[in-house]
Amino acid sequence: MTGGHRRAPSPSSGGQGVDPELYRQVVGRFATGVAVVTTVAGGADHAMTVNAFTSVSLEPLLVLFCAERIARFHDVVLETGLWAVSVLAEEMRDASQWFATRGRMLDGRLQGWEHTRGPATGAAIFAGAVAAMECRTYAVHDGGDHSIVVGEALGLDVPDPAAPALVFYEGRYRSLS
Ligand SMILES: Cc1cc2nc3c(=O)[nH]c(=O)nc-3n(C[C@H](O)[C@H](O)[C@H](O)COP(=O)(O)O)c2cc1C
Repeated sequence: MTGGHRRAPSPSSGGQGVDPELYRQVVGRFATGVAVVTTVAGGADHAMTVNAFTSVSLEPLLVLFCAERIARFHDVVLETGLWAVSVLAEEMRDASQWFATRGRMLDGRLQGWEHTRGPATGAAIFAGAVAAMECRTYAVHDGGDHSIVVGEALGLDVPDPAAPALVFYEGRYRSLS
């Protein structure tokens, strides 16, 4: 092959002859922001870092995030049906890491991260987030080992209009500044 733009696929172990490692590499080259989805169940806060988050529809106003079925957050958010999304600023890497740590203390605390409560959902919205949204679950679709959770926007906010967003690309955090 000339040009060197493509890597030869390694022996297949994925469905339909697709190498899962190459799949990871390819989808990881889609630069994303990073967000924390929050919900309140039985008076306790729950949160999870996601980058599988996107807008879906303008009429009605819909977004989606993907939740791994084995994540503890998965069942909780499906049960509550009300959640908030805080899009993280560059200086919030620590929050991203913490809310992506399996086995961490789950309930009742947001590890000191300053937050307000969304008026529509009661879910935490992080101070310093570059954007925030409150949602009610609109639909849940099968997404293999994830569930695709579609939410209707109930409220929108821009907590810190000046903060640069945290970016995730090729498995690493990047900054826009
Ligand atoms: C940058 C980043 C993005 C992530 N995106 C997702 C995602 O979109 N969906 C998901 O289910 N897990 C995602 N994860 C992993 C979860 O955050 C992690 O598995 C989760 O905290 C599991 O915790 P729990 O079982 O306590 O809920 C991501 C992790 C990182 C670091």
